[in-house]
Amino acid sequence: MGKDVIVACDFASGKEALAFLDRFTGRKPFVKIGMELFYAEGPAIVREIKARGHKIFLDLKLHDIPNTVRKSMAVLSGLDVDMTNLHAAGTVQMMEAALEGLTRPDGTRPLLIAVTQLTSTSEERMREELLIREPIGEVVMHYAQNAKRAGLDGVVCSPLEARGVHEACGAAFLTVTPGVRFADGEKGDQVRVMTPEQARLVGSDYIVVGRPITAASDPVAAYERCVREFVD
Ligand code: C5P
Repeated sequence: MGKDVIVACDFASGKEALAFLDRFTGRKPFVKIGMELFYAEGPAIVREIKARGHKIFLDLKLHDIPNTVRKSMAVLSGLDVDMTNLHAAGTVQMMEAALEGLTRPDGTRPLLIAVTQLTSTSEERMREELLIREPIGEVVMHYAQNAKRAGLDGVVCSPLEARGVHEACGAAFLTVTPGVRFADGEKGDQVRVMTPEQARLVGSDYIVVGRPITAASDPVAAYERCVREFVD
């Protein structure tokens, strides 16, 4: 499994997303479709982007009872996406059900990645609202190990956690890391960031990059810079 740059296509409409992707006439980026675009346009946008030759990470973060997640994952698998995800907080049983649903009759399936704790959740809120008393770093590693136990392929995590996840779960367990910024770029609302090159050095398998590419004056050049720093 090669390293790759995943472009977060965080647009509110299919029209905007497709106009953005039209610019990429050379290498076709691996594209992340999140809730905003999926809820606006439905499965048709996934089929359209797939038909244009892009790999797709469908970022819908499922979290429900195992039976519902199994059946929903079977639907997503039929969309022929390359990667999708769920919340590890849904339990090992839910993650196992998700894998079952995702696996096609011929045994193939998209990669399945778990969200551990969202990076927007602070240790304080976790303790006071969710009554999870352990340090957040331990919770993230424990959830990653649960995901591995359930047979998942990896986790979404901060590049700062990538090395620890590989140590806890093995080098082959994938780390998909947002929070990436160019050394000379705007951070926006991301706080703990790494450059694509630093993310490569700490062992991230995929970086998820949104605004440094989507809001760039030349998105194709920004994407190619990410690929040069992270993949080549
Ligand atoms: O624009 P930016 O590069 O910050 O986009 C990062 C993408 O990764 C967004 O789609 C964001 O929702 C997603 N993400 C994140 N942090 C997480 C999980 C997902 O930034 N912990």
